Amino acid sequence: MYPYAVFFIILLVRQSSALKYLFVPENDEFFSDCSKQPDNVLNINGLFDMSNFTIMQKDGVIQMSGNSTVIWQIHPGDRIQVSFQLFRFDRIGWFQTPFSMTVFNICPILYDEPQYWYKYWTKNIINKEDVKDKCVSPGTQLIHKPFELNLVFELTGLPLNGRYKNIVTVKPFSAKNVMRKTNICIEVEGQFERLN
Ligand SMILES: *[C@@H]1O[C@H](CO)[C@@H](O)[C@H](O)[C@H]1NC(C)=O
Ligand SMILES: *[C@@H]1O[C@H](CO)[C@@H](O)[C@H](O)[C@H]1NC(C)=O
Repeated sequence: MYPYAVFFIILLVRQSSALKYLFVPENDEFFSDCSKQPDNVLNINGLFDMSNFTIMQKDGVIQMSGNSTVIWQIHPGDRIQVSFQLFRFDRIGWFQTPFSMTVFNICPILYDEPQYWYKYWTKNIINKEDVKDKCVSPGTQLIHKPFELNLVFELTGLPLNGRYKNIVTVKPFSAKNVMRKTNICIEVEGQFERLN
């Protein structure tokens, strides 16, 4: 049984070559609030003070610059679990797609080069050497050089078309692995444009 399963998977991977997409955000401010959340779930403004950070859309490209300061009162040393879940709108509502990812603890890899979030975001943080060890502890100021969001993804599987939203949740856990009361939920809606 086992060797056949392996063979089948290899065959599938070889037949469906990766498709390249550009994610085009719907909202000019990029970030949206997650709908129908309880009081203990905060949005992007619960995570960062964004008053010195600008997000602009110019010729369909999102441009970001400035400073964001962590205001989320997390406990130092907490494990920060981040999950990304892609939903697709199909006539009557949002349905989860197979594209999802959970990062058990983002802090040690927040500035890791191969990661998507490094390529699109944290590589633009000028003071990364100073803040690398602080992760998202309160008061940490992330200073960005002006950058453009160019969200290119290579995905295998069914072609993507229509409206999508990515729901990002950020959840802190204590050393005893108990989830803290306050967590973050951010939504980004948009469409995927085929590049190849
Ligand atoms: C925003 O920038 C102003 C001027 O540089 C500064 O006084 C203020 O502390 C900054 N606020 C945040 C949250 O970084
Ligand atoms: C960000 O912080 C740096 C260093 O404190 C400062 O020079 C710069 O003016 C700030 N930018 C904004 C948009 O607040």
